[in-house]
Amino acid sequence: MTERSETQPGGGAHHDLDAVLAEERELMNFYAPNYRALQFFNSYYYQQERRCFVDWILKTVRAAGRDPAGLAFLDVGSGTGEILEPLAAAGCANLTGIDIAEKMITESKRHVPGARLVHDSLERHDWGEERFDVITACLTVHHMCEPAAFFRFADRHLSPGGWFFLMEYNRGGWGHESPLAKPIGWLMTPLRKAIKIKNRGPISRLPSAPPLFNHAHDILRFRDILDAMPERENYEIKRYTRGIFVPTLTNALVPDSRADRAVYRVLSVVDRIAEPFQAGYMQGVGARRLR
Ligand SMILES: C[S@@+](CC[C@H](N)C(=O)[O-])C[C@H]1O[C@@H](n2cnc3c(N)ncnc32)[C@H](O)[C@@H]1O
Repeated sequence: MTERSETQPGGGAHHDLDAVLAEERELMNFYAPNYRALQFFNSYYYQQERRCFVDWILKTVRAAGRDPAGLAFLDVGSGTGEILEPLAAAGCANLTGIDIAEKMITESKRHVPGARLVHDSLERHDWGEERFDVITACLTVHHMCEPAAFFRFADRHLSPGGWFFLMEYNRGGWGHESPLAKPIGWLMTPLRKAIKIKNRGPISRLPSAPPLFNHAHDILRFRDILDAMPERENYEIKRYTRGIFVPTLTNALVPDSRADRAVYRVLSVVDRIAEPFQAGYMQGVGARRLR
């Protein structure tokens, strides 16, 4: 396990699949019981990003004249049901999730009782001829041994006219490895410190755990995602990116504070300056299978 990935950008290194899956399973079983309360997986910032992602999925599907309620969804790396739960709340009834960590599956059964939940890896599970209309993966592909495995799976198991949607960190964003990353961090330090001091009570009551990742964990550029798609020409691809200043407050904001929600709303408007440059911290990638 590593605190920082040591691979090449975009998952260029070769890893042993069984070793990566075993490590991921162990780590995610460790996090599962407190997953929803951990700031580095589920802070107010992440909750808002997931909400935006699910809204985008539903909007995209409806704009194409399809009713999400009647579609077969698969969420890869379904965790405790972070994506399946809002899909169920939106009326989607045909929901499947797969996760390598059995304790994540146990948690998700409580949150999404109507979903079919598979304990296995995406790479090893035998799906037979099964097809899905929508395949989602939220913060999962960069945990995989080889991101291309996700796209090969989509090529085989996505219905024609169906979509896959990813939410992933954007390695090409200004907040990651660009020369702007440090100045953005410095600029935000006083506000982050002030909010953390204000929220020290609620934050101190949250469970904490060290941020540990499997040794193949590696965040992706949009280009890495495109390069990992073997049949890219068969898809119509859309993308958004979000966040410059807001992500620096990830571990500081708490959802129960009106002041924090106001800070979030104001900074989210400022953060839109990154959108025309596709330079936001987080990216959503949606691809519709044309044939
Ligand atoms: C960072 S968590 C994201 C969970 C959830 N999607 C969310 O939005 O919070 C990554 C999840 O993917 C699962 N996972 C990672 N690699 C996997 C694989 N190859 N097959 C199935 N699940 C996998 C992990 O067990 C973990 O639950």
